[in-house]
Amino acid sequence: MPATSPLPARAERPAAPAPPPAHVAIIMDGNGRWAAARGLPRIAGHRAGGQAVRRTIEAAIEQGVGWLTLYAFSSENWRRPEAEVKDLTGLLRHYLKSEVAELSANGVRLHIIGERDRFSEDIQLALREAESLTSANRRLNLTIALSYGARDEIVAAARRAAEAARAGRLDPAELDEAGFSAFLSTAAMPDPDLIIRTSGERRLSNFLLWQAAYAEFVFTDVLWPDFGQAHFAEALAEYARRDRRFGARPA
Ligand code: FPP
Repeated sequence: MPATSPLPARAERPAAPAPPPAHVAIIMDGNGRWAAARGLPRIAGHRAGGQAVRRTIEAAIEQGVGWLTLYAFSSENWRRPEAEVKDLTGLLRHYLKSEVAELSANGVRLHIIGERDRFSEDIQLALREAESLTSANRRLNLTIALSYGARDEIVAAARRAAEAARAGRLDPAELDEAGFSAFLSTAAMPDPDLIIRTSGERRLSNFLLWQAAYAEFVFTDVLWPDFGQAHFAEALAEYARRDRRFGARPA
C-alpha cells in the first residue's frame, strides 16, 4: 500500500459550502424613484425603505452574517431640500423609538459612524442610548452610517494621527495600514467583504473608500424599497461565486 493515498480529483471532492461574507455593507438607493413610480411623495419611498431595512436585518441574521453596515444618510444628503431632510431625520427618530427594543431582543448590537453631532440633541441622545442598550449583543453588529462621508472620515483619521505624533504617542515612521485603520471610525470592524448597491447605480458615492479596498461589489437594479430576503440571498450567492485573491496570483 502506498504511504500516501492520492487525493481524489478536484471534481470528486464534495464542495464545502462557502462561508457567508463576514461583513456586508449596503448603499440603499432608489427610494425616490420607487415613490415617483407610484405617484407618491418621496417620504413614502423612504418609509418603504425603512421596511426594507427590517427585512435586510432579518436576512443577515438568518444567513449568519456577523456585520451589516447600512448607508442611511450621507454628508451630502444635508444638501437635499429642507423638507426632505426633515422627513429623513423624522424617520430616523421614529425608527430609533420604535425598533431598538426589538433589535436588541434579536441580539443586534448597534453602532453609528458619521458626524452624529450634526443631528439634533434628541436624536444624538437616542443614538447614544441605542448603542448602550445593545452593547452586550453579539448576534449581528449593525452599523448605520449617518451624515457619513469617507473622505471626511479619512481626513479626521489623518488629523488624529498627526495629533498623536505631535503629542509623542506615535512615531510617524512606524505608521502602517493597520495603525492608520485604528484612527478610522470603523477601527473595531472588519473591512466589508461585499458591498451591495441597489437601483442600478454603480458608484461608491464616498462610502467606506478606505475599507472597500478588497471588497466585492454586487449591483442590482432592484430599488431599495423592493429589496428583500431573496435579493440578499442572491447577492450572497453571487459573492460565493467570486474568486477573491486580494491581489495575489491564482494558485
Ligand atoms: C436613497 O434613496 C436613500 C436615502 C438617501 C435614505 C435611506 C433611508 C432609508 C432607507 C430609510 C430609513 C433608514 C433608517 C436606518 C432609519 P434616494 O432618495 O436617493 O432615491 P432616488 O435616487 O431614487 O432619488
